[in-house]
Amino acid sequence: MNIHTYEKIWLGAAMVLIVGFIATITYGAVGPGIAMVDDDGGDITPSEINDDERFAEPGVEHVGGNEYEVAVVAQAWSYSPDQIEVPSNSEVTFYVTSRDVTHSFSVVGTNVNTMVIPGQVSEMTVRFDDPGEYGILCNEYCGERHHTMEGLLTVVPEDEFDLTELDVEAPDEVEAGNETTINATVSDGMQTDLETTVTLEIGDQQYDEDVTIEGAGSESVEFAVDTDELGAGDHDWTVSVEDEEESDTLTVVDGNGGSDGGDGDA
Ligand code: CUA
Repeated sequence: MNIHTYEKIWLGAAMVLIVGFIATITYGAVGPGIAMVDDDGGDITPSEINDDERFAEPGVEHVGGNEYEVAVVAQAWSYSPDQIEVPSNSEVTFYVTSRDVTHSFSVVGTNVNTMVIPGQVSEMTVRFDDPGEYGILCNEYCGERHHTMEGLLTVVPEDEFDLTELDVEAPDEVEAGNETTINATVSDGMQTDLETTVTLEIGDQQYDEDVTIEGAGSESVEFAVDTDELGAGDHDWTVSVEDEEESDTLTVVDGNGGSDGGDGDA
């Protein structure tokens, strides 16, 4: 059989096109790490989100090394949490679900762009090498305020990142002459130990307490405050550790002149 030269050229060109198309699609599917959301993340009953271990308190969790997990709940018309902070040089796995209707979770400038379907958990893992800010958007029309549904993902420099939390218990009022205590509980959300200093400033007094907190643990620090030294009146205090801070006011009332009828033994 004799094939005309021109026909051979057209046949060859058609073959090149077909191979080219297949290569393009293959690269698109495998090369840039694009993946379809599948059922890896599992499913969840939307009405039970508040009882779910992962989603009851959504947020960032350190799972070890440079790996983090972020749980996000989408609902009309916000994300919880809507401000997410992760460190640079990290590998972050997002778990996102919806409380009500179908939303999306799209991190602008990355390849995170997934539908969020009630009843399903969308899971995807991304590497963040450099610090930066990324907007989070809903790309699925979800009601009248769909356009306001947004959040912010901040990748902070690795050495500035921590998951420290502070909780302070202090009395509002104390009678002069009595010693009082301000209790600070510091918890470390990282899996690694944290050596740090908890500071209490009250009036012109300052107390420092060094603590070592085990990974994923917490420690309580008790500050004994001498009210005689403070004197009667309102005293603003601040407890700080790492980037966390809590402030309030302690009122020292004069035991003798107090309107509450103190026993006057001062
Ligand atoms: Cu949620 Cu649009």
